[in-house]
Amino acid sequence: MNKCHAITVSSDGSLCLVRHSISAPGENEVLIRVYAAGVNRGDIKQKYGDYPSLPESASAVLGLEVSGVIEEVGSHVSQWQRGDRVCALLMGGGYAEYCLAQATHCLPIPEGFGFIEAAGLPETFSTVWQTLILQARLRRGESLLLHGGASGIGVAAIQIASRMGVTVLASAGSERKCRACIDLGARHAINYRQDDFESIVMELTNGKGVDVVLDMVGAPYARKNVNVMADQARLVYVAGDSGGTVDFNVRDIMLRRLTITGSTLRHRSISEKREILRELQNAIWPQLESGSIKPVIDKVFSLEQAQQAHDYLEQGKAIGKVVLGVR
Ligand SMILES: NC(=O)c1ccc[n+]([C@@H]2O[C@H](COP(=O)([O-])OP(=O)(O)OC[C@H]3O[C@@H](n4cnc5c(N)ncnc54)[C@H](OP(=O)(O)O)[C@@H]3O)[C@@H](O)[C@H]2O)c1
Repeated sequence: MNKCHAITVSSDGSLCLVRHSISAPGENEVLIRVYAAGVNRGDIKQKYGDYPSLPESASAVLGLEVSGVIEEVGSHVSQWQRGDRVCALLMGGGYAEYCLAQATHCLPIPEGFGFIEAAGLPETFSTVWQTLILQARLRRGESLLLHGGASGIGVAAIQIASRMGVTVLASAGSERKCRACIDLGARHAINYRQDDFESIVMELTNGKGVDVVLDMVGAPYARKNVNVMADQARLVYVAGDSGGTVDFNVRDIMLRRLTITGSTLRHRSISEKREILRELQNAIWPQLESGSIKPVIDKVFSLEQAQQAHDYLEQGKAIGKVVLGVR
């Protein structure tokens, strides 16, 4: 058992740098020498004890995604070898100099990408893929209303959807964020602090509504989300940050045959995550390598500055991803 530096949550809720034990990889795992770690809203929720049913296998060390170099492989791992450059989706443990990952939850770093750009890909792109493509079955020619357009999730979703020929309407909390949504490919961005998204969406769609809504706001948006859904539209939740108990009339669901769904990536099985990542590698990695889809990195902090990185994200300043540069 070796030790390395890692970030955990101290009893007063602040982040602290500790010496952390790291074991040898299990038979289907790899040990990664971490170069960069993505910071996600889920890490902040975990810090505050506000993560919905944190899985027992989750590490006390924060961090759901990393990029780095494989240091050691488990006895059943044949697809990777020491020295391979990878990015990986984790159950936790990413804010550290070394971490363990399932071998099937690693992907090669896209050609031409550095560690910083690659670190922010696995969690957000997997979440967008599983919700928009696998659950909401978003298709070319459809329309999407995306709340949180400038979030880590939002900047990936705008690009994935618009590149596949979907008309994207995004909501965000400032003019600067709205401009970023348009630059990334949204047809229209709504500053929700100034305008009512329901009336704008209905006007932009000539009263028809949108085919898919992706939401992380929850209760305050529930009725309006249902009101802007076209016949047979799908509403998919990735969070309910402003309230999880929602209220709408089932008659609307029945009359327009609406589907309401959602998921949390961290609770999906090892094989489901492997399948999501495999689809991402086939469908999205070529677009990242051609430059059609770009990583959006707002700011980089060091591992020791993890607390500042969280403060920055919590202040709502970021457009896209915040990343920890670990070495
Ligand atoms: N279910 C899953 O598997 C899964 C996986 C990853 C993330 N998530 C969730 O997805 C959300 C985004 O995650 P992230 O890491 O990308 O977060 P992030 O980068 O920290 O962004 C959060 C965003 O929410 C926006 N927001 C807050 N209230 C809003 C509102 N009323 N209308 C529109 N936007 C609003 C904020 O920007 P402005 O308000 O300034 O626009 C901010 O851009 C979080 O709730 C996270 O927990 C879920």
